[in-house]
Amino acid sequence: MPRHFLRFTDYSQAELLALLELAADLKTRRGRGEPHRLLEGKTLAMLFEKSSTRTRVSFEVGMFELGGHALFLSPRDTQIGRGEPVQDTARVLSRYVSAVMVRTFGQDTLEELARWSSVPVINGLTDLLHPCQVMADLQTVLEHRPGAEGLKVAWVGDGNNMAHSWIEAAQVLGFALRLACPEGYRPAEEILGPARAAGADVEVVSDPREAAAGAHVVTTDVWASMGQEGEKEARERAFAGYCVDRRVMAEAAPEAIFLHCLPAHRGEEVSEEVFEGPQSAVWDEAENRLHVQKAILVTLLRGG
Ligand code: CP
Ligand code: NVA
Repeated sequence: MPRHFLRFTDYSQAELLALLELAADLKTRRGRGEPHRLLEGKTLAMLFEKSSTRTRVSFEVGMFELGGHALFLSPRDTQIGRGEPVQDTARVLSRYVSAVMVRTFGQDTLEELARWSSVPVINGLTDLLHPCQVMADLQTVLEHRPGAEGLKVAWVGDGNNMAHSWIEAAQVLGFALRLACPEGYRPAEEILGPARAAGADVEVVSDPREAAAGAHVVTTDVWASMGQEGEKEARERAFAGYCVDRRVMAEAAPEAIFLHCLPAHRGEEVSEEVFEGPQSAVWDEAENRLHVQKAILVTLLRGG
């Protein structure tokens, strides 16, 4: 297993499936009320340069349930916000804590932190990727449809960090991914190029209904991600017609589920009807952040 959890392409298919199996096992144990204090005495520093509800709470509760402890660090009240270099922060934190989870802007900042850190670093979202969320999404998918074989996933909307992690997941796990994105908002070539070169079954189209045709999973995300608030109006214009509504879901397989990493904007990227409807698995998806991140922590800190 790699030392850090920064992106899917650092992992093999077998390693990702092992993490997902452990996540399912931890979920069962928690459901039965069985103690699983596998990280007694361990500490996690959680470095947030962007807002969060799910990531913060699921990591903090996860560490508590594993018998460890988590510390919330924000730029507002640490020296990071006053410009202390990442390489210094990484080396100092490594002397105190067992692992570091970071939510930041640039992937380069995350990689720099990982390079200088002597403890495992976990990607809690960057502008480029959001692998912990897509791990929770994959756990949710497997709960509905065991095995990734023959799986077809549709992404509708922005070619953003979530879309990029879905592409990397498709590359490593081998399922089919169709993304419907407007011109100018397609996934980055730095993600698509290597995926295509590796033979991933990934295709970008323009029409959401074309992407959704026969899909077992239809998923989307906000039109303006954190840090893009200034582009909100231009993005609303560009993404008109990219709402996952009843018409889009009608193209998918009858047993298809709808996923959204949350927070969601009803009436924009998803209709109220689909979001609150019987195919929506968004609350299980949010819950699975807890289980899958516990699996990542246990694996990085104890070797599985
Ligand atoms: N999906 C997700 O990462 O949510 P938060 O921004 O609330 O952490
Ligand atoms: N794409 C969104 C995901 C939020 C969890 C963002 O980066 O803001």
